Amino acid sequence: MEKLGEQASRLVLVIYPFQGHINPMLQLAAIFHSKGYSITIVHPEFNSPNPSNHPQFTFISIPDKLLESKVSLSPGDFMSLVLALNKNCAAPLKQCLKRILDEMHPYERIAGIVYDALMYFAQTVADDLGLPGISMRPTAAAMLLFAVIPHPDQESVFENQLPELQPLQLKQMVAAMSENPTDAMSEVRAAALNATKRSSAMIANTMDFLEEVALSKIKEYSPAPIFTIGPFHKLAPSNSSSLLKEDAYCISWLDKQAPKSVIYASFGSMASLSKQDIVEIAWGLANSEQPFLWVIRPGLVLGSEGTELLPEGFQEKVGERGCIVKWAPQREVLAHDAVGGFWTHCGWNSTLESVSEGVAMLCKPCFGDQFLNMRYICYVWQIGLELDNELERGKIEGAIKRLMVDIEGVEIRNKAMDLKKKAEICLREGGTSYSSLNEFTKRIL
Ligand code: UDX
Repeated sequence: MEKLGEQASRLVLVIYPFQGHINPMLQLAAIFHSKGYSITIVHPEFNSPNPSNHPQFTFISIPDKLLESKVSLSPGDFMSLVLALNKNCAAPLKQCLKRILDEMHPYERIAGIVYDALMYFAQTVADDLGLPGISMRPTAAAMLLFAVIPHPDQESVFENQLPELQPLQLKQMVAAMSENPTDAMSEVRAAALNATKRSSAMIANTMDFLEEVALSKIKEYSPAPIFTIGPFHKLAPSNSSSLLKEDAYCISWLDKQAPKSVIYASFGSMASLSKQDIVEIAWGLANSEQPFLWVIRPGLVLGSEGTELLPEGFQEKVGERGCIVKWAPQREVLAHDAVGGFWTHCGWNSTLESVSEGVAMLCKPCFGDQFLNMRYICYVWQIGLELDNELERGKIEGAIKRLMVDIEGVEIRNKAMDLKKKAEICLREGGTSYSSLNEFTKRIL
């Protein structure tokens, strides 16, 4: 990979403090570091990443005043939280950047402020200080269609100009988003869009071949250039940035399982399930007769550890065939030979991690962009099966067998392996993500 010359350039990266956003930002930091940049990570106090896992970066914590703002930290109150972070963190970020600029060696410079798209205040701070602001998109690029295409045009563009993306049901998503928008929602959307328009560039964690049609439409409408350099976690080695402790036991358990036999079930860091869902999933997994690795993170069922909700007789039925952990080293799990399928909530990080290992998916989205990701997986790329309606043990058992055993599953798994090969090509010299990264670094130099 091409590296910087002797010039000392620093990039300041601003984190949105949730797992699905911390991971891609720290992976991006590792990529830039591998290209020769010095890295400063600025993060709110809440959900602070562990600096000792990333000794090559400088970490600066800024006050977020979330306790004083009395915002709820539950995913349901997501928009109020975004507003509070953007309001409370602006002044501390500006102070922090001024200090960095004052204390910097004369031969050093800040090449840009890379911020999570939800921390849009960082664009204003960058503008005030005359620095380039670069927006990082941790979701599918297709989510940007809703941001860059003017609202009145969206329905007709989605309906008439993007026939290849009909399976994504973009028109239905616009309609759903327009239903009962809260004031907080409208404010966040308008402010984020405004920042995107002023940004010097956008970086998307995606690959061109996955989202060709969406990307070409975005380029038509967006004033800022978009660089597609995903999947971030594959472009440079990066240490774990898990907020919860990863349980390594599951890897030794996977070592004992037959190749491609295990269904890995995990619903990311924010999704929540009901007590009854846990019981249905437990029996669905048990009755499928497949070996399974299941992540039940504390809080997956609100206010509970989760494992105490497992039904009577379940453990006796599954014995050594099942492994349950609170948090897994997911990238390692998906890359393990024993894993043949991934039952996922379709978070974008999980989706990319699965695509890059060629693992077919069983999809049960929970909220937000996860529905769009599910439609990509099942109906555009055709590397997964949708598990629709409510969770019910018989349907779960049937879906696992369809994916892991039936002839239908063989085809889906073959397609998933084809995408893995395409992803590898993207990352090699001359590949789209490789080239896009080089182009980006040339631009910001
Ligand atoms: C959130 C949103 O829900 C998601 O839709 C959006 O695209 C990003 O922000 P989250 O729900 O946590 O993220 O899902 P996901 O995007 O899949 O990110 C979860 C991350 O946690 C992944 O990088 C995954 O590897 C990691 N993880 C998950 C673990 O390391 N161990 C686990 O046991 C589970």
